[in-house]
Amino acid sequence: MKKKTKFKKISCRMMKKEDVGAVAVLHSQAFHSVDDDELAKRVRSKTSRALVAVKNDGTIVGYTLFDFEMDEKRKVMYVANVGVSAKHRGRGVCGVMVPWLVARLGRYKCKSAYLSVFSGNDSAVRCYTRAGFKFDSSSGMMRMQYRVPRKRTVKKRKAA
Ligand SMILES: CC(C)(COP(=O)(O)OP(=O)(O)OC[C@H]1O[C@@H](n2cnc3c(N)ncnc32)[C@H](O)[C@@H]1OP(=O)(O)O)[C@@H](O)C(=O)NCCC(=O)NCCS
Repeated sequence: MKKKTKFKKISCRMMKKEDVGAVAVLHSQAFHSVDDDELAKRVRSKTSRALVAVKNDGTIVGYTLFDFEMDEKRKVMYVANVGVSAKHRGRGVCGVMVPWLVARLGRYKCKSAYLSVFSGNDSAVRCYTRAGFKFDSSSGMMRMQYRVPRKRTVKKRKAA
């Protein structure tokens, strides 16, 4: 694979209603399906969230849809879709979005996140692995999981 120059400045923000059209185009490129209504519903939904990756000029070049689930009373983030515009792939957009999401797990009160991926999807697996996801062998599917590292507590010495 020929290495492409990575984008110097890609920023992430939460998706807005007016982004639905642009995201639907990316969604169809990434997953060969277009369903504006479904996307619009997700944006309005109280549980689903979406983020977009934006270039300097305001063009949306990537998106991520995510939800929350309860697993044994713990809130877990489920990363449902990650897509990057076909012409902007291989330039680090996914590499910005996934760490952005992981960095916000605490804000959503989640200690872990998971997603499903085909093992042959090299760029996706590489990107998730770099962000800290690991293959979860306990599930039958190609599932990757990220766990928020525990904070190291420094024990104070008792005064003599
Ligand atoms: C998978 C996808 C989201 C990756 O997005 P991207 O912005 O192109 O990814 P990045 O540029 O951040 O690349 C991630 C890593 O994969 C590498 N990579 C990029 N293209 C690659 C390719 N074709 N083969 C192998 N590795 C590749 C990059 O070098 C980078 O690794 P590095 O951080 O070690 O340099 C994008 O290709 C896409 O939208 N695909 C279609 C939808 C899809 O498969 N989504 C994931 C479903 S789980």
